[in-house]
Amino acid sequence: MAKCKDYGLATVFVCLCLFGVFSVPVTAALKKYQFDIQVKNVSRLCHAKPIVTVNGMFPGPTIYAREGDRVLVNVTNYAQYNMSIHWHGLKQYRNGWADGPAYITQCPIKTGNSYTYAFNITGQRGTLWWHAHIFWLRATVYGAIVIMPKQGTPFPFPQPYREANILLGEWWNNDVEDAVKQGNKLGMPPNTSDAHTINGKPGPLFPCSEKHTFAMEVEQGKTYLLRIVNAALNDELFFAIAGHNLTVVEIDAVYTKPFTTEAILLAPGQTTNVLVQTNQVPGRYFMAARPFMDAPLSIDNKTATAILQYKGIPNSVLPLLPQLPALNNTAFALTYNAKLRSLNSPSFPANVPLNVDRHLFYTIGLGINPCPTCLNGTRLTASLNNITFVMPQIGLLQAHYFNIKGVFRTDFPDRPPTPFNYTGAPLTANLGTNSGTRVSKVEFNSTVELILQDTNLLTVESHPFHLHGYNFFVVGTGVGNFDPSKDPAKFNLVDPPERNTVGVPTGGWVAIRFRADNPGVWFMHCHLELHTGWGLKTAFVVENGKDSDHSVLPPPKDLPPC
Ligand code: C2O
Repeated sequence: MAKCKDYGLATVFVCLCLFGVFSVPVTAALKKYQFDIQVKNVSRLCHAKPIVTVNGMFPGPTIYAREGDRVLVNVTNYAQYNMSIHWHGLKQYRNGWADGPAYITQCPIKTGNSYTYAFNITGQRGTLWWHAHIFWLRATVYGAIVIMPKQGTPFPFPQPYREANILLGEWWNNDVEDAVKQGNKLGMPPNTSDAHTINGKPGPLFPCSEKHTFAMEVEQGKTYLLRIVNAALNDELFFAIAGHNLTVVEIDAVYTKPFTTEAILLAPGQTTNVLVQTNQVPGRYFMAARPFMDAPLSIDNKTATAILQYKGIPNSVLPLLPQLPALNNTAFALTYNAKLRSLNSPSFPANVPLNVDRHLFYTIGLGINPCPTCLNGTRLTASLNNITFVMPQIGLLQAHYFNIKGVFRTDFPDRPPTPFNYTGAPLTANLGTNSGTRVSKVEFNSTVELILQDTNLLTVESHPFHLHGYNFFVVGTGVGNFDPSKDPAKFNLVDPPERNTVGVPTGGWVAIRFRADNPGVWFMHCHLELHTGWGLKTAFVVENGKDSDHSVLPPPKDLPPC
């Protein structure tokens, strides 16, 4: 009964009903949110600047819902920028209209306009997040999504005493959009961020941060659930708490086989739920986040900190810093990722596609293109199978649904035009990159295997790939070139991690599988904003099935016009 009580009165009824006392029909609730996009002055690191926020909050408000709920979020844009919001990791079954990436599933919400994102939360529970999906505005426009399990369904791990959201982010002292424009003018990356943040605050290792430190008060001898989100734009991050182990129980809103670790690793876009036992001497302990960067050009090692504070301990006690893996600790990253396994229990099975209808092999390349208008004369680019994606002028989903010709082509190649030694000596050329709005057509309900292969075009680097509209299973990964004759034999088809964003290792590959049972147009891109901007993106057009309930829903009336 202890589990039931923790869920509140409603659940006590459900528990009674499970015990056969009486039965109460449990209906899904309607949850309504109002998001006002507004500019607000915010100060960090001794700088104040106007930033784009939701309801004046940074980070933005948390969306709380329960599996099975219907959620309506009315977004009204009072800022000078065009806006769209993405609900990262929500599957949006048949309902790409609520997915949010600008020019992929909708046109942006213009200044002074509103749009209501209306969606059901079906078959998902755990931690996800939402963020602006246009330009680099997600630098300040992001927040958590907490989906509680259905009433009467406990977590498959010990019920925590309390829980907290931990959002990891990046802060720029200057206007981010200006920095991006400046970078584009030069043909170079914009300045790296000035700080990393935990719940919007950089912590005391940065200047002027006395007020800008997040602290979480805890009681000794309890279990806490931390819902950790990597909302950074361009950095994979390690996270640890001094003196406390973390037990990983969920990634990207999918339960995992629990394992205990001193530090976790999250790529941008990923979420991780951990249990923490407050079993140490009462005191103050730093939580810390710092980048993982094992590519040759990496330099950013700024550490964000927050404080785990035992009740009754005065602020004068100096906290200890945790041991974080070194900036370039590839071995830690590979070992950590290899520990991630789906829970794969009877209630939460891992339905890994065992047969593959469609084999895809995409190479990830960076490159330098001539740019007469850039100060350098060149511009950095990125491509998938040698194609740099060009953003359309209207939403691809509209073009698909209303059959508008000339917006995109469906001839995105299933493999690179010219095979080469992908991870051999660095190649400075970019193999003659093409650009275009080219996507891949996928038959409804077919099973897809996609190998994402990093290349040494310009440089190897790790790339967190995110697929909209789906979770996928990460059935294999490795360093070097994928070997189609040997590697598939080593795939995990039993309990591979199921997620929506996966890190392609530096100079390596990952293999993912999914069943294309969600019709619509689904964006897939590197979640490093830098690389997305350079064209490291494409989309899948998943066709309608034969039955009417296997086709894209009609668009909502208030869908923003272009
Ligand atoms: Cu979290 Cu398309 O992104």
